[in-house]
Amino acid sequence: MQVTYLDAFSAWADFRTLVDTTVQEGGLRNIAEVGAGANPLFSAAFAESIDGSYHLIDSSAEELRKAGPGYIIHVLDIQKDISSLDQQFDLIIAQMTLEHISDPKSFFENVHQLLRPGGKVCLFFASVTSLPMLVNKFLPDSLSRRILLKIQPFRQNEKHGKFTAFYRWCFGPTRNNIRNFENAGFGVDRYTGYFGHSYYERFPLLNLLEKKKTAWLLKHPQPGLCTYGQVVLSKK
Ligand SMILES: C[S@@+](CC[C@H](N)C(=O)[O-])C[C@H]1O[C@@H](n2cnc3c(N)ncnc32)[C@H](O)[C@@H]1O
Repeated sequence: MQVTYLDAFSAWADFRTLVDTTVQEGGLRNIAEVGAGANPLFSAAFAESIDGSYHLIDSSAEELRKAGPGYIIHVLDIQKDISSLDQQFDLIIAQMTLEHISDPKSFFENVHQLLRPGGKVCLFFASVTSLPMLVNKFLPDSLSRRILLKIQPFRQNEKHGKFTAFYRWCFGPTRNNIRNFENAGFGVDRYTGYFGHSYYERFPLLNLLEKKKTAWLLKHPQPGLCTYGQVVLSKK
């Protein structure tokens, strides 16, 4: 297992690179994105051009509608009955979805079932160990939404909705979280823990302190204090 710690500044671009590299290295052709919602990682044009298939899975038909036309879509709750999906994939992607899963055991059981032997999973999730996420977890949704819109007004955009978050199994590369993935039937190939958060950009002093904290954590990594995690798993 390769464990790395990075500044969260590049996390979004890094995830796209991580998925592209995983696809290329493994020659993966059939891909599903769980919780793709309004913002699938790949465009419909790109999905059509690949030698394989790209399926979007989401419990919300409304969110999938926002993704636009041209995708193969499946409206289903990944924690429940997935028998309507009678196929297996080489790769399952979940970006900003694991946080919203109340029952990660069922989630990973179904992900495991949807993968062919040796298939891969690429996860990108926010971790509950940062202050903005703690606020999001513990304040009522209506209040945390009002605070979020003050800090990130772009979230008003219909493609950046807010969903109830549980943050279960959403930690940096802690021993416990690695064990969670292993006990669910996966090998952990890569685990990147990110430090820092852009939530403070509108508050110069807080932002400066956040940058200083990030620089310190990059020198002295604490897996329990990561703001995001990116993980590549292999089905055992
Ligand atoms: C924060 S959005 C992330 C959307 C997109 N992946 C992105 O990065 O912008 C979370 C998505 O997960 C979906 N979701 C939440 N729980 C789900 C479940 N149990 N099964 C399938 N999708 C789920 C939501 O409907 C929503 O579209």
